[in-house]
This record gives sequence, C-alpha cells and structure tokens, in this order.
Amino acid sequence: MEIKFNQLTLQNFKSHKDLVVKFGDMTKILADNAKGKSSIGEAITFLLYGTDLVGSKLDPSPVTYQAENTLVTLHLCVEDGELLLGREIVKGRNKFYVNEVPSKATDFNDAVEKLFDKDLFLSLFNPSYFFTLHWEKQRQMILKYTTAPANKEVLKELPKPQSDKLATLVKKHSLEDLDKIHRSNKTKLDKQYIAAQSRTKTLREQLEQNAPTVPLDSLNVELKQLVKERNAIETVTYKAQETNGRINRLHTEIQFLTTERDHIKETFNQLKNEPIQDTCRVCHQTLQNEAIDAVEAEKEQRIQQVKSKFQKVVDERKVLEEELKTLEYVDVSEQMEKARSLQEKISPIEYEISKHKQYKFLEEQVIAAEANEKETLESLNESIFILDAIKDFKAKEAELQVKKVQDLFENLSIKLFEEVKTTGDNKPTFIVQMDGKDYMKLSFSEQTRAGLEIRDVLSEQNDLIAPCFVDNAETITKFKEPNGQLIISQVVADKELEVISE
Ligand SMILES: Nc1ncnc2c1ncn2[C@@H]1O[C@H](COP(=O)(O)OP(=O)(O)OP(=O)(O)O)[C@@H](O)[C@H]1O
Ligand SMILES: [Mg+2]
Repeated sequence: MEIKFNQLTLQNFKSHKDLVVKFGDMTKILADNAKGKSSIGEAITFLLYGTDLVGSKLDPSPVTYQAENTLVTLHLCVEDGELLLGREIVKGRNKFYVNEVPSKATDFNDAVEKLFDKDLFLSLFNPSYFFTLHWEKQRQMILKYTTAPANKEVLKELPKPQSDKLATLVKKHSLEDLDKIHRSNKTKLDKQYIAAQSRTKTLREQLEQNAPTVPLDSLNVELKQLVKERNAIETVTYKAQETNGRINRLHTEIQFLTTERDHIKETFNQLKNEPIQDTCRVCHQTLQNEAIDAVEAEKEQRIQQVKSKFQKVVDERKVLEEELKTLEYVDVSEQMEKARSLQEKISPIEYEISKHKQYKFLEEQVIAAEANEKETLESLNESIFILDAIKDFKAKEAELQVKKVQDLFENLSIKLFEEVKTTGDNKPTFIVQMDGKDYMKLSFSEQTRAGLEIRDVLSEQNDLIAPCFVDNAETITKFKEPNGQLIISQVVADKELEVISE
C-alpha cells in the first residue's frame, strides 16, 4: 500500500500564520534557521496524532501573535482513494474533520488507525523515531514479518545425534515443554544418582566386611561328616532309649500285677476259711442237707472264680517277666555326651555357612544397586543430552533468524540475542550497529542514514510505502533515497521559506 501526501495547509500553526505546502515525489523545504522548516513536518504528526515528530504531545497554538484558532489539514492519497483530514484547536479544544465532516475524536482516530499503525507510520516518516521506542518494541517490529526458521530447517543444521533425538521428541512435546521436563528430570536425577552411588558404596563395604574366610565347599564337606556321625549316634541312642523305656514300663506293670496277685491271694485265703453257714440267714433254722450242699457248691464256685482270676494275673505277670528277661538296659550317657560335643562343632560350621548365604544375598544387592546406579546415570545423561540439544537448537535457531534478519540490511548489523554469561543461554536483545558502533554512538548524519535504512526495511516488510521527512538534510552530504515521497528540509542562509516540489 502506498500513502502519498498531496497538500498540507497550516493556519496559525506555531510561526506559520497561513501556509500551503504542495508535495511531490521530492519536496524540498529551504530556509534560513527558525523560518519554520521543522514545523512543517511537525504539522503532519500533529494532525495525525496530536504529537511532535517523536511522538510527544504537542500544543502548536501560536504564542507570538493573536489567533482565533489553529488548523492543519492534509490531503492524502491512499491506494483506494483520497482523504482530507483536519485537526483544529479552538479555545484550547481539539476539533476533527474527516473529508470536511466534523467528526468525533474516536472516529478520527479510527480513520487514521485504519490507514496505518502509529509506530510504523512515525518510524517511516521520521528516520529517528524508531530509535526512541523501547528495544523490545523495536525488536518486535523488525521481527514481525521475519518468521522464525521452521524446526526442520534448524534440525538440519544440528549434529545428527542431536537432530535425530529432537526430531523424535518434538512429535510429542514442544521444545519449551521438553526443556521444562528435562530440567526437572535433571534436578531429580542428580539427587537420585548421588543416592544410588552412596548405596552401592555402602553395600560394597558391607560385602567386603562380610567376606567369608572358609570356603563353602570345605565347610559343607566338614558339616556333612559331622552330621553323619551325630545322626549315627542319635540312631543308636534313640533305639537304646526305646529299650530302656520299655524296661521301665515292664517293671511298673510287673509291680502292679504283683500287688494284684497278693491281693487275690488274700481274698482266696479269706474265702477258704469262711465257715459254711448251716442255718438260714432269715429264719435261723438249721438247714437241711440239700440246702447245705447248695451253700457249699456256691462257695466252691466263688473259690474257683478267685482261682481263675489269680491264675490270669500270674500268667500275665509271667509273660511280662519273660519279656523283661530278653531286654537289657543300655547306658547311653556316653553316646549322648559324644552327640553333644559333635553338635558343638556343627553349630559354628552352620553359622559359617549362613554367612556364605548372607554374603550371596549382599552380592545380589550390590549387583542390583550397581544396575540401578548405571540406569540412573543413563537417564541423567539422556536428560543432559536433550537439554544440551535444546540449547544448541535454540542457538542455531537464533543464528538462522539473525541471518534472516541480517540479510534484510545492507550497512547495519542487528543483534537479536546476547549470551547470558552464567548459563551460556541466549537472551533476546535488540541492538543496531553501523560499522561496529551502537546507534547511540553514531554521529547525527550516521544516525540519519541508519534510520533511513531501518525505515526502508520496515516499509518493505510491512508492504507500506509512506512519505519520509528528513530534517536538517544539509548536514548529510549524501544518502540513499528512501522509498516513498521524500521531504527534506535544508538550511539555506538568508533565505525566506521556500518549498520546491518535484
Ligand atoms: N507556539 C509557537 N508560536 C509561535 N512561534 C513558535 C511556536 N513554537 C515555535 N515557534 C517558533 O517558530 C519558529 C520556527 O521554528 P522551526 O523549529 O520550525 O524552525 P526551523 O526552520 O526548523 O529552524 P532550524 O533551522 O533552527 O531547525 C522558531 O522561531 C520557533 O521559535
Ligand atoms: Mg528545524
């Protein structure tokens, strides 16, 4: 889009009581000092924004003469038509006109804002305006249309292991998220790795301290022999104890049967001496023969019963005594003592063998701890590798972006990033240099040339061609003509104001 100024009219604007300026592709404003050259440029920014050339609020009401009002109008051409804008100050109040129609401030501002962005227009119109902006705004304006290089483009420039790794990771997460993830991973794993190392160390020390002195094989051989001996003795003593126990039980049972037998014997004697009752127990009459026989038979029957009971006890006792005769009491105290002394040898060997088991368990723990340590270190290194790759990616991305931006300029060099000393990271900045010198260090004419180069880049980038006002142009012997209409003011000694349009 191209903006062209046709005609500017000033009434009571600063020292100008009544002035008409017709613009051409090249407009020269020639006059001696203090004849109102800069005021012509200011009238344009005042009309559009109520400010001077660098964007500060401006009151151009005349102070050297009486005037009813101050009025600026600008007739301009935009691609699809013409526009006549006007701003008037009456009794300290601003009035606005769009195509001669009195308008509200907001409508007027909207009409201007629709034409072009304020900072962009002022940067194009006044070559020194851009440098009055905050560096972040400057950077944003320059980068607005230079798209950051695509990931693919950056990855191509990285070493293969890095680009392969990042290419896979960025499918799932953004680089920013990856950076967050692996930063937190790294912090976590740094701690975990230290803990894992110390655990391995402790376990290794324990292992060293618990190293068995006697080999397991010889312990097992010795144990086997001793256990065999002890078991053999135990088999003998067990058997002997069984026999001894039987003997004891037989003695007890025989004793019992002897008492039983003597008791039966006593009963028998009593029964045998029992007189035959020859009188009836009820009527006390002498019993008849038959009855006496019956009593005797009954007695005899009882005697037989006792006898047979006696015989049974005697027989049982005899059987037991026969068995007792076959058994011999064995004295096992010596064997028991031997078994005990064997057990005394066995216990420490078993303890030594258990130490072997514990050692083996510790060995397994050491192996597990070493594996864990290795795994932790691998994850930690992986995170470090990714973080480094991201850092390199960012650096390369910045480098490519800087190159893209740099390619826009002929004489200026633009610094978009600076290195943070402590971390080595890139942080955004915006510094314009010419011949290795920062803008602020440049002379007036150098600053103007720098400003003209910047405004042309902005003009191209934004596809907006707008007029450019170069004030005090006599101080610059030569400069590249900017695109758009050029308005220059030059001091010419002893000259009244003259505007020459070509
Ligand atoms: N509000 C005002 N009312 C009346 N005169 C003013 C007002 N403001 C500034 N002036 C005067 O207007 C005159 C023109 O100023 P201007 O800055 O436009 O001159 P110039 O031609 O650019 O001068 P130089 O060559 O020094 O840059 C100066 O004498 C200035 O003091
Ligand atoms: Mg001036």
